[in-house]
Order: sequence, then structure tokens, then C-alpha cells
Amino acid sequence: MSELLTQQIQQLPKVELHSHLEGCIQPQLVRAIAKRNGITLKEGLFNEKDMFAWDNFVEFLGAYDEASFCLRKAQDYRDITYTYLQECAEQGTVYAETFISPDHAAAVGMSYDDMLLGCVQGIDDAQADFGIVGRLIVSCVRHLGPEQAVVVAQHLADNPHPYIVGFGMGGNESMFTQADFAPAFNIAAASGLACTTHAGEVLGPESVWDAIDNLPVTRIGHGVRSVEDPQLLVELAKRGIALEVCPGSNIALSVYPNLESHPLNKILEAGISVSLNSDDPPFFATTVGSEYLSGAKDFGLDLEQLRNISRMAMQASFADEQTKARLLAVIG
Ligand code: ADE
Ligand code: ZN
Repeated sequence: MSELLTQQIQQLPKVELHSHLEGCIQPQLVRAIAKRNGITLKEGLFNEKDMFAWDNFVEFLGAYDEASFCLRKAQDYRDITYTYLQECAEQGTVYAETFISPDHAAAVGMSYDDMLLGCVQGIDDAQADFGIVGRLIVSCVRHLGPEQAVVVAQHLADNPHPYIVGFGMGGNESMFTQADFAPAFNIAAASGLACTTHAGEVLGPESVWDAIDNLPVTRIGHGVRSVEDPQLLVELAKRGIALEVCPGSNIALSVYPNLESHPLNKILEAGISVSLNSDDPPFFATTVGSEYLSGAKDFGLDLEQLRNISRMAMQASFADEQTKARLLAVIG
């Protein structure tokens, strides 16, 4: 790839719609926050390369839980939000939505209000310092079950905040069905929040059908395994449901053995709205910037196609119409 194209891609305005705040904390920040909170991190959390140590999807979720375990104060959430948005801004990102998980905060005795206070401060500070717009999607944890998801959604509906623009779900896809979570998603949607859910990542196209037929979602996290069902691709395009695609994450989690077999191009060819995302950067050695570069290097996308991905992402974002219009003009 030419140096000029690399530079042009680095400068291209980018939009990230799929990252998990608790999965964005670099090991050195985990250590610094643990130290100031007097917390001893679990033995073996990092490997010899100073990366998070895990071998499969369930172990990844365990390491992710462990990293979030050090977060105890509003200041901790402020610092991880600010650092994540700073990194995004340095890669040319103009808008980023990140999932936050009240269940992870509650697991260590932190209140929702303190978590949110910290995130909001991090967003304000990052916008003041780097111009990036950050927004939050509150995520329930699938393996904690549908009843807990209702608790999270109801709290969210009762406590709206302008920076919280959506409701989502991550966690272990092998537990429960998407339809089981309809009560939680319906509460969130009725309160005016846009919705997305992880599907078609670990499980196949039936999980995406389950999501789009039973939940009020306008986006799917990953959804890449939709390509195994041509009829589903047609349906996603027809309904205008956007896929939050994270190729680097998919390779790290062995959803695909390599980028050559990754279906990003098939999804684009089907006319489906796509964004490119990092998911959990230090866990998968991804960044939104490297995903765009990989779009050119590994998938043959040119600058205009990548710019169009930024446009599609901004359109599919959960931002208010004014923010969308302003940032679409920046993307060009
Ligand atoms: N939580 C954080 N990252 C996730 C992923 N890639 N899939 C499901 N749940 C997650
Ligand atoms: Zn994810």
C-alpha cells in the first residue's frame, strides 16, 4: 500500500460505533488504577508480551471482567473514557459510541450515578481537548440473564442522560435467546433509546434473525455470520439494519481463521450499512485506525469506499440529527 494512501487513510475522519469501555483499558492503565485503588490484580492477567492473557471467547470475557474489577471511582471511569477517546481522536475519529456496563460497576459496589458521572466528565474533557464527540450505549450482559437486563433497562429509562444514546447487549451468545431479552429492549426503546445487540459473531445467522425479528434493533454488533444465509443479507439491506463490523476482533476470537476468509466485502456488496470498529482494543491488538488501514490493505477498499464507511457509520449512529449533520459535513 502506498505511503500516500496510508497517510490519506490516517487523516480520513472516522466513526467508531462498537467498542466496550471496560474492554478499552490498556494494561498500564489497569495497573495504574489498580495501584491507586489498592487492588491486587489476578495472577496471570497479562502474558509475557504485556497483553491480556486469554485463549478463547469465555476466557476473554473472564479477562475483561477482571480488568473492569479495578474500576472503583468516578475518576477511574473519567480516566478510561478520556484515554480511549484521546486514542480515537489521534487516529482521526470524529465520533465514537462506546458500551458501558452498569453490571460490571455494580459487581464492585459502584453506583450507576458515579460510573456515569465519570464517563460524562471524560467525554467533556476529551471533546474540549481533542474535538471528538463521545456518546454512550448502556449494555446489559447476556449471561446475567433477561431479568437483570430488565433491571438495567428500567433504571436507564428512569434516569435519561443526553450522552446515553442507546441500549445494547454483549456477553456470552451461547446463553439464552435474543427473544428472551425483548422485555428489556422494549423498555429501552419505549424510553426513546436506539438499540443494538451482539449477534452473528459466535453463533450463526439464526441468531441475527432472532435479533431482528424479536428486538427493536436498528444495528447488530458484528452480524458477520449473516453471510451464511443469503436471504438474511437481503433482509438486512431491505430493513436498513447496519452491521458494526470488527474484523480484527473476529480474527482474534477465531470467528474466522484469517482476514482473507472474512466476509466484509460480501457484506458491502450486499448493500448493507457497515461501520469498522475495534471492539476491545488492547485485548485484540486493534484500533479503529488500524481497522480502516486493514480495510485498504486486506480488503482492497479505496479511500472513497472507506470515506463511505465513515458516512454509513455516522448515519447509523445514535447521535441526534444536528450532531449527525455536522459530522457528516466533516466527513465530506
Ligand atoms: N463483550 C466485550 N466484547 C465482546 C464481544 N466481542 N462479544 C460479546 N461480548 C463482548
Ligand atoms: Zn463487542
